[in-house]
Amino acid sequence: MTARDYSCVVTLLLDRSSIVLEAGKEYLVEARLWPLARRHGLASVSEFIQRLRAPGSGGLIEEMVEAMVTTETSFFRDIHPFKTLLDTVLPELIAARRNDRCLAIWCAASSSGQEPYTIALILREYFPELADWKITFQSTDLSHDMLRRCRAGNYSQLEVNRGLPVALLMKYFRQEGARWQIRDDVREMIDFQPINLAEPWPAMQPFDLIFLRNVMIYFDVETKKSILAQISRILRPDGYLILGGAETTFYLDVSYKRVESLKGGYYRLAAK
Ligand SMILES: C[S@@+](CC[C@H](N)C(=O)[O-])C[C@H]1O[C@@H](n2cnc3c(N)ncnc32)[C@H](O)[C@@H]1O
Repeated sequence: MTARDYSCVVTLLLDRSSIVLEAGKEYLVEARLWPLARRHGLASVSEFIQRLRAPGSGGLIEEMVEAMVTTETSFFRDIHPFKTLLDTVLPELIAARRNDRCLAIWCAASSSGQEPYTIALILREYFPELADWKITFQSTDLSHDMLRRCRAGNYSQLEVNRGLPVALLMKYFRQEGARWQIRDDVREMIDFQPINLAEPWPAMQPFDLIFLRNVMIYFDVETKKSILAQISRILRPDGYLILGGAETTFYLDVSYKRVESLKGGYYRLAAK
């Protein structure tokens, strides 16, 4: 791949998704775009990138962005955010909303769905009192491929082996050959929609919980600031923003404070 090819991918990726690809990641571009090049009957990644430069290549660019994003995820990833949710945050929110009986959750950048389904399983398994509450649960990602996987709720043995307790697997999934299908009633709790966090967002309602884990690490500072500012307008005053282990609001947005007593990256809006 030439330097010009690499710079074309870096520029398009930044423009379409705000993902910053540092210098020296040519191997990553080769590895992620080669299957795509082959699928289009091309002999090399360079040839694929030439097609990206041609007029009318919008669809191909979208495919390129989807192929380049990191979609690593797992059930109960990093455990602490979910333990805190179960032990402290949900009991507290349920008590605070006992009159309205409504909860609104947004899982942004949900990849193949293990994160929103982890939350849905916690709600179903441990909080039966929510059965007649109005739970609005939105889950979004930029990648249409990932959204298809989310909506399917169908996982390989390897995927369910990563973090999902056997008791929850047995109760909420059905085995289909070598794969596992999540129960429809759990799947139907969640509305999966495309949202590119780097582009203007649709109008959104206020949320009690916003999971934004392991995605801001890929963005530049301006994009992180803009996303945090938008979230501060839709996060309820006593709601929580949950970030990934390598992410923080420090130096980016003073309207948040980290809740030090809660393990797992919990942030709240600082009192005005
Ligand atoms: C590493 S995964 C994180 C998945 C999950 N949140 C977790 O922590 O396990 C990052 C996800 O962010 C999505 N993503 C990347 N750029 C995005 C953008 N600009 N807007 C929305 N989603 C994006 C990718 O498609 C991918 O599914």
